[in-house]
Amino acid sequence: MSLIKFIDFPDLGDNRGSLIPVESVKQVPFEIKRVYFLTNLSADLPRGFHAHKELDQVAMCVSGNCRVLLDDGVKKEWVNLSSPTKALRIEPMIWHEMHGFSSDCVFMVFANEHYDEADYIRNYEDFLSKVEK
Ligand code: TYD
Repeated sequence: MSLIKFIDFPDLGDNRGSLIPVESVKQVPFEIKRVYFLTNLSADLPRGFHAHKELDQVAMCVSGNCRVLLDDGVKKEWVNLSSPTKALRIEPMIWHEMHGFSSDCVFMVFANEHYDEADYIRNYEDFLSKVEK
């Protein structure tokens, strides 16, 4: 089964522009406790390089584009994100990296928990040792 799970957000826009609602439990399949976004990014400064033990996240480029690597410890898959209506689910225990940010990229994330450093696995060898084979 693919690691890539897209969530399509409806665009209720009209000739004035796009309007994309994001509601807890509706478009995003959990109670949203935290929203954060990355901006002023550089193509040559990738981010992420961690997995979360329990955190569930939904991410998309509300502007611009980037490439995301998803890795469950067995297989790796790359996905391009380039639309504010196509979000990517990043589930627990998925190593993820974000690369190749366009200069206009705004990377938006919805998360089901508050920030907790103890939930991070930042070392790839630790991640592999924790993955159930
Ligand atoms: P980190 O998740 O390591 O960033 P990235 O994966 O994009 O490289 O976070 C960078 C720093 O910001 C780190 O010290 C933790 C802090 N942080 C918060 O305080 N709150 C948050 O919601 C997030 C995502 C990070």
